[in-house]
Amino acid sequence: MFSRIAKRSFSSSAAQNYKVSVLGAGGGIGQPLSLLLKLNHRVTKLALYDLKGAPGVAADISHIPTDSKVEGFTPENDGLKNALTGTDVVLIPAGVPRKPGMTRDDLFNINASIVRDLASAVAEHAPNANVLVISNPVNSTVPIVREVFKQKNVYNKNRLFGVTTLDVLRASRFLSEVVGTNPANERVSVVGGHSGITIVPLLSQTTHKDLKEDVRDALIHRIQFGGDEVVKAKDGAGSATLSMAQAGARFAGAVLKGLDGEKDIIEPTFVENPIFQNEGIDFFATEVTLGPEGVSKIHGLGEISSHEEELISKAKEALVKNIAKGQTFVTEK
Ligand code: 2OP
Repeated sequence: MFSRIAKRSFSSSAAQNYKVSVLGAGGGIGQPLSLLLKLNHRVTKLALYDLKGAPGVAADISHIPTDSKVEGFTPENDGLKNALTGTDVVLIPAGVPRKPGMTRDDLFNINASIVRDLASAVAEHAPNANVLVISNPVNSTVPIVREVFKQKNVYNKNRLFGVTTLDVLRASRFLSEVVGTNPANERVSVVGGHSGITIVPLLSQTTHKDLKEDVRDALIHRIQFGGDEVVKAKDGAGSATLSMAQAGARFAGAVLKGLDGEKDIIEPTFVENPIFQNEGIDFFATEVTLGPEGVSKIHGLGEISSHEEELISKAKEALVKNIAKGQTFVTEK
């Protein structure tokens, strides 16, 4: 037994050799995300890019004694190209955050062009990379990346992900507060999208499916609008950055485990998904198995309650518009 474990860990450490790039590394999410990635032993090269600030972040975290090389880039001297060349995983947190009273969709006008231009660079310099989109509104920015990639003939549906992990983290945390358990033991599948009513936690699949209706509804509302709590508390200084960084790092860690050949790596994420494609909804978050090819299997919803069915049908009404908005932003320009 011991020798099997020792052999396995030896061979997996030999395989760990991944370059990860963060686009928007100088920002509120980018900085803590870069720090958390520096702590991931699978990351051997970390490329941090931003309009400004990334070299400083890189110098700072480069002093942490983990076995990886960190470099910071700005647009000068082909910085974006150099940050992307040879990379395996690209995380995109670039963009502006919400202020109180704003929805994620209100960010569209600014973040859409930022994401489009970064996607164009990824298509050119890292066409085979796994692309993890954090910039909001995720329900629209992921379709933007797809359209850019399609136009450049490099789209691979198995390697494009919208990060919805913060909804998963919030769901387990908030559920544990309601039922008085350790959140580490609460795993909630969250499906749909990453904005308000498009976020659908499948509480009926947890061991707490018998919550009183008013408690359940308040909990679902808190999970769907949890981001607003942070926007309000930050009082004009932005939205969730630290918990979002943890979510991005956790999801990137799962993608890297999949690339590394670990089995049964399953996470919910917003991907091109056949589940409602016949209703014109090309993207939908469900659990997916991650593997060397990116998405190796897309799971269905499993057994859900009639209430969850209603939530999903409301989510679909919003999602169809969010997705079309991202697509037409690229195709009609
Ligand atoms: C959130 O859910 C920033 O979208 C992020 O708070």
